[in-house]
Amino acid sequence: MKKFLVIGNPIDHSLSPKLQNWWLKENNIDATYGKIKLEDHEIKNFIQEIKEQKIAGCNVTVPFKKTVIPFLDKLSPEAEQTQSVNTITFDSGDIVGHNTDIAGFDTAIKKLNFNIKGKKVLILGAGGVVSSIIFALKNMHVQEITISNRTREKAENLRALFNDIKILEWGNLTDCHIVINATSLGLNNERINLNFSNLGHDKLFYDLIYNPPETDFLKIGKQLGYNTENGKTMFVYQALEAFKLWHKIEPKVNTDTFNLLDND
Ligand code: ATR
Repeated sequence: MKKFLVIGNPIDHSLSPKLQNWWLKENNIDATYGKIKLEDHEIKNFIQEIKEQKIAGCNVTVPFKKTVIPFLDKLSPEAEQTQSVNTITFDSGDIVGHNTDIAGFDTAIKKLNFNIKGKKVLILGAGGVVSSIIFALKNMHVQEITISNRTREKAENLRALFNDIKILEWGNLTDCHIVINATSLGLNNERINLNFSNLGHDKLFYDLIYNPPETDFLKIGKQLGYNTENGKTMFVYQALEAFKLWHKIEPKVNTDTFNLLDND
């Protein structure tokens, strides 16, 4: 039986096994999908197990999306440009790194029916997934992308990949149509201590976090009368793209899929 895994640290919170195993069963595929917490020094051996096909493929989450890259044989163009890998496949003897976060975010935004073209976007945070968000936003032809991160250096590193992004000191806000929370603030119910009250009307507050479904950031957005959306749709569609890469089948997404993730 083929074995798939998601690797990360921490990994307990991951809902990937629940979703992937649901789809495996629904499509009568003889495989399992589990999760494993790894340390940095264990990554190399883990990838070797994919090379030896003891493991058929994997998803990669925080903090290893960049760490895995030196151990792979090939990268998809998206993984190369974002320097971020969230899905690993084994193709004709090669271990290949892919980035399905981009397609996940792109689909999530399209499903919102929010015309993002020409809009100004402020991203809070500069962690591993942010290069994928920037890549997707640029493909959507947004007007301007500003990054604000507590550690400025990490925002500067992103500017090395995408030289037209702007950087704003943490604590400040700028005129924009969309604010994306890409920090981990809210994962454990932390407050986001930024003053959003002078942003004006008609904004979209988008949180990459989906568990809990409503972070402090989204609560503030709602109180201000803004459109709000959490990261659940992105999560489902990044998983769908990974499933397609491994099994060459497009799994179904419907209300059951979302309910499955709610009942956790
Ligand atoms: P990684 O940085 O390892 O990829 P992540 O969970 O993807 O991990 O990113 C966490 C993000 O939340 C980072 O942007 C982090 O800011 P730093 O780069 O300064 O660490 C941000 N973050 C976490 N705790 C924060 C806090 N208390 N205040 C502001 N930003 C915070």
